[in-house]
Amino acid sequence: MGKLLLVILSGVTLAFLAERIVRLGRRINFAHETLKPVDLPNCHLIDGIETGAEDIDILPYGLAFISSGLKFPGMTSFAPDQPGKIFLMDLNEESPVATELRISPGFDVDSFNPHGISTYIDQNDGTVYLFVVNHPQFKSTVELFRFVEEENVLEHLKTIHHDLLPRVNDIVALGLDSFYATNDHYFSGEFMGILEQVLDLSWSNIIYYSPQEVKEVATGFHSANGISISTDRNYVYVSDALGHSIHVMEKHADWSLSQVKVLEFDNLLDNLFVDPIKGDVWAGCHPKGWKLLFYSPDDPPESEVIRVQNILSENPIVTQVYANNGSVLQGSSVACVYDRKLLVGTVFHRALYCELEKP
Ligand SMILES: *[C@@H]1O[C@H](CO)[C@@H](O)[C@H](O)[C@H]1NC(C)=O
Repeated sequence: MGKLLLVILSGVTLAFLAERIVRLGRRINFAHETLKPVDLPNCHLIDGIETGAEDIDILPYGLAFISSGLKFPGMTSFAPDQPGKIFLMDLNEESPVATELRISPGFDVDSFNPHGISTYIDQNDGTVYLFVVNHPQFKSTVELFRFVEEENVLEHLKTIHHDLLPRVNDIVALGLDSFYATNDHYFSGEFMGILEQVLDLSWSNIIYYSPQEVKEVATGFHSANGISISTDRNYVYVSDALGHSIHVMEKHADWSLSQVKVLEFDNLLDNLFVDPIKGDVWAGCHPKGWKLLFYSPDDPPESEVIRVQNILSENPIVTQVYANNGSVLQGSSVACVYDRKLLVGTVFHRALYCELEKP
């Protein structure tokens, strides 16, 4: 009798695990169809960016900040022993170049491992602040810098850690020292993180942080990834990478978020960028997520850029702006625009600069 029960229990457990593994296979698009290329005519790879441009943010007047050199569990890196960097690009120039920003003394640049970034402009004096998700020794911190434009320097102001910020992926600045951050996993440990994904727990969340108050403001994501704010600052857009979706959330006076709607896609969406003029939402996407996890230079991860217009309306317009099988650009994680200039960054590969044609 005991043996029979054991056999039945093992069978049930195996069936459950098999179902979860098939589900995870779907989430990472294991059997996704071949990507049809969509080319853009006036593009080139940006000189000097060779180890990723995982996230990019552009100030409304055309200065682009680029985080490069991410080392992330499960992902490849072309320079695993090199610290990460922040690059600056002035998109007002005729032929913009990427310049590495110096970081003020006192900050541990050797363990710098930048991930999601967000800019914030002080309305009183125009000072630019850069919030950077950092993973020194694979931990999660948020670094706050002041940008000193005359010297191309990032002055480090403070490091933020919190128990509610165990696996931060991306961040959107709300004030001089407040932000929303996504945790792409609930558990910080590697094993529990994998188990969480295999069991499809969807406990990934969004945290509001300020020095006075830190709290969870939304949960239920498979893997909350990119986060961005609408031009009127009333709505927050969140990409759920493994959920293949963008969540439109309304922001309330107490900073809590309530879901307005969910847009479904068939790929894994990474970082989001909101065009400050038009309000369009741009996303860097991974058509086949598993190719990021099992990197092969012969069959590299693809790149795809999506633009969503009128996202708050009844009928948002979704356009696939760029799609490449990895022969040019591998593993696109972000797409940002300024005027008619488009920057596309990647998790660990290069970055693309494009001049878009007049509509
Ligand atoms: C990608 O597409 C190009 C043609 O655009 C082709 O030559 C190349 O073999 C393709 N690479 C892969 C890995 O499919």
